[in-house]
Amino acid sequence: MKKYMPEPFRIKMVEPIKMNTKEEREVFLKEAKYNMFNLKGEDVYIDLLTDSGTNAMSDRQWSGVMIGDEAYAGGKSYFKLVDAGQDIFGYEFIQPVHQGRAGEKVLFPIVMKKGQVAISNMFFDTTRAHVTLSGGKPLDCVCDEAKNPAVYADFKGNMNVEKLEKLILEFGRENVGMIVMTITNNSAGGQAVSIQNIREVAAIAKKYGILLNIDAARFAENAYFIKLREAEFKDSSIKEIIREMFSYADSFTMSAKKDAIVNMGGLIGIKEDAELYQKVKGTCISFEGFITYGGLSGRDLESLAIGLYEGIDENYLKYRHAQMEYLASGLMEAGVAIQNPAGGHGVYVDANAMFPHIPYYEFPGHTLCVELYKEAGIRTCDIGSFMLGNDPETGEQIQSEFEFARLAIPRRVYTQSHMDVIIEALTEIKQRASEVKGYRILWEPPILRHFQAHLEPIK
Ligand code: F0G
Repeated sequence: MKKYMPEPFRIKMVEPIKMNTKEEREVFLKEAKYNMFNLKGEDVYIDLLTDSGTNAMSDRQWSGVMIGDEAYAGGKSYFKLVDAGQDIFGYEFIQPVHQGRAGEKVLFPIVMKKGQVAISNMFFDTTRAHVTLSGGKPLDCVCDEAKNPAVYADFKGNMNVEKLEKLILEFGRENVGMIVMTITNNSAGGQAVSIQNIREVAAIAKKYGILLNIDAARFAENAYFIKLREAEFKDSSIKEIIREMFSYADSFTMSAKKDAIVNMGGLIGIKEDAELYQKVKGTCISFEGFITYGGLSGRDLESLAIGLYEGIDENYLKYRHAQMEYLASGLMEAGVAIQNPAGGHGVYVDANAMFPHIPYYEFPGHTLCVELYKEAGIRTCDIGSFMLGNDPETGEQIQSEFEFARLAIPRRVYTQSHMDVIIEALTEIKQRASEVKGYRILWEPPILRHFQAHLEPIK
């Protein structure tokens, strides 16, 4: 197993967590209708449901909370955040919003016309939903390497560039509202996207005059991957790589709850289009609040401005990456199949490999999530057919390219021993995998169903 890299921080404040018994967890699961989002946080031992907003802020960020400027308009913290955004991304316009999906809700209806398609290396579920809510149709166009979890590739998050151009020609340029590059590619396993690929996609976007938007939730982890794996950038600083990545796009939407290491926040960035920014400001005032707070309090703006810099610190990113590698190598040594390599924010366990006897419509990824909770009180989430849901036109269950249980690791929160507990739990489940059965949905809402659906085990 890989050596664990010591943390480049020490612990100043702790939060006790509760251990419970297998019997208790069986009851909690039943009460939660076998939906991970229905479990109470206090009934979870290691919470890997998401790395979003679950990060530990630093002493500097917490001191920022105390000096946040709560002025309704023109607060100091707003200007500090805009300065940080302009400096790191090289974009002229930075608009705070309360989280990533708020940015999508504001931007997408402005840039998309009803009936258009939007093409991405892979949409995250809320991003997909906001394309649909804007009257558009989301299309995924990830590279083929991503679809084979067992085989390592450096940049499994990349767009399939040939297919992208084919889709544009098939639908007609005027029917493509935008191209979205998700960095890292969360739905494919937190996988890296190369600058080479961003350049190629940008060239196509330019050729056909289509807006290129970056979904920037995990931009810093993506930049670190580029430094490690793309020879041209091995001597570049993280900030230089970030500048380069963003220079090829027109705009970005960002959930700051990931790489900016805060508990709430989001950004919209616009490179230079003042007219577009004007429209964004208008919509933002209606939905999010005045331009200079965008649905956040001044203290949130302040800690976000600080977190943007902490999230791009190379020492921190090195440790973050090493933590994922430790977990991934421990699992692979135990024969647990994962999307190889580890993602930037977690390890995606291949539930198809774990449960080859469970078909996609009985949700192998979700099944593994339930087993992990039963086994060790570890909460994770499905990135597979259960998350993908039904085709909005036919109502039929869509088969996902993958069936993953995602071990999303919050930033600066868990230690080596927690990683060991996760490895042991999965090793245990693997031994009894053939006896495990799938799940059926009893009730589901029409959109983003995995957050609310009720399920039951198949007998
Ligand atoms: N884009 C990506 C790639 C995401 O992963 C997320 C959120 C969003 C957009 C939306 O951001 O939650 O701030 O509104 N991902 C979280 C996750 C929820 O668990 O992966 P948000």
